[in-house]
Amino acid sequence: MIATATVSSWLPQAASTQSQGVDPAFYGVYVVGAFAVILVTGLAMVFVRQFPRNSENERGLSDARPNVKLQAAWVLAALGIAIYAFNAGLPGFLDANAAPWMSYRVLATVGREGFQFTYPNGHLADTLHVSINRPVRLDATTVDVIHTLQSPSLRLNEPVLPGRTAQAWFNATTPGTYELRSAIWGGDRYQDMHTAVVAHTPADFDAWMIRVSDVFAGRTMVQAGEVLYGTKGCRTCHTIDGNKLVGPSFKNVFGHQFDTREGVRITADEAYIKQSILKPNVSIILGYEPVMTPFEGRITDKEIAALTAYLRTLSDLGGTPAGADSSATKPAGKQVASAAAAPAAPQGGK
Ligand code: HEC
Repeated sequence: MIATATVSSWLPQAASTQSQGVDPAFYGVYVVGAFAVILVTGLAMVFVRQFPRNSENERGLSDARPNVKLQAAWVLAALGIAIYAFNAGLPGFLDANAAPWMSYRVLATVGREGFQFTYPNGHLADTLHVSINRPVRLDATTVDVIHTLQSPSLRLNEPVLPGRTAQAWFNATTPGTYELRSAIWGGDRYQDMHTAVVAHTPADFDAWMIRVSDVFAGRTMVQAGEVLYGTKGCRTCHTIDGNKLVGPSFKNVFGHQFDTREGVRITADEAYIKQSILKPNVSIILGYEPVMTPFEGRITDKEIAALTAYLRTLSDLGGTPAGADSSATKPAGKQVASAAAAPAAPQGGK
């Protein structure tokens, strides 16, 4: 008992129910291991003193008959230790592999870019927020090499292998911020594989979820559009760097003209973009398949406006996004400029 009390600070302060399975097994095996080390090295030192090398002892050694009882006792003791260690670790191991069915499920993606967590409502974040006293199940995948999900305080350690979904769960018991890291060094480009698990009280967690679920809170329309580009899934089919995926890149879409399958040339203005999002299959851009999912009923007008504002920033014909704070002055200036240019053109033509 004294041993447990004094060595308990060797593991970080436990912050999850998993510690009930892990900690006793760890300390038990640790104490038995330490005892074995002391016993074996101690005996070795005693024997070195007691039986120094000399001809008499060497003769005695070759004559010696094995002490079967002592050997059997040693084998049985080692077997007992192995059975004890297995028995001590098994419940925690089984528990760690069986997430309760009512767990809060969060998808985790680990890769060179770090950690990304997807919540049941589609919210994406690079830190993991959870509520205490509520089991959280992580379904983790890696987008490149082998990683781990490791959090000492939460007693969490789960390898994440490419091509498989690793499952880990924990039930945080103490509010606080805990380290979560990948304990496998994946190469030079993976040095900073750290993030945090923030364990809230249930009320705080709900408040946090409501706050972050509003993409417009604390963001400009363009910033909100950039977030929606990821959370609404546009990213899977549209790049922003000019490369073609399933759909055309968002680079230089706004304001540009495109031919459609229907043989019409359209201008990707606000109205066309809105229609492309709500009913993409009404008019198909030439060279692409009609595979874009209609977002009708799954996206608000404000979200479309934010995405459009974002698309404007990705286009050389984007101009100043509508609704931007400075919009009052700039378009007015443009109008003046074009009004001045318009009469000048015919004059030049004459
Ligand atoms: C499943 C893949 C897929 C997803 C997801 C997807 N799109 Fe598309 N999108 C396409 C394809 C393919 C086209 C070209 C064919 C067409 O016009 O429907 C396209 C066309 C477009 C166009 C017209 C492009 C142009 O050159 O005029 C816009 C705008 C657009 N998508 C916006 C979005 C937005 C915004 C989202 C996210 C809310 C999104 N898309 C999600 C596949 C996708």
